[in-house]
Amino acid sequence: MNRKKVICSCYHVTKGDVADAVEQGASSFKEVKKMTKAGKACGDCKKKIKKLIRKLS
Ligand code: FES
Repeated sequence: MNRKKVICSCYHVTKGDVADAVEQGASSFKEVKKMTKAGKACGDCKKKIKKLIRKLS
C-alpha cells in the first residue's frame, strides 16, 4: 500500500492516515471520518475508504 496516496482529495487525507485511524480503533467509515475528516465534503471518497477499511481490518 502506498501510504502517501491521497484517498480524500477534499481534505487531503492519505491512505496512511486512514490506516492509522484503523490502527487506533476506527472500524467504520463513520469513525474514520470522525478521526481524519475524510469524507466530510463531497463524499466521493466514501466507497474507496470503505474498501480500504475492509482490507485493513
Ligand atoms: S474526496 Fe473525500 S470528501 Fe471529497
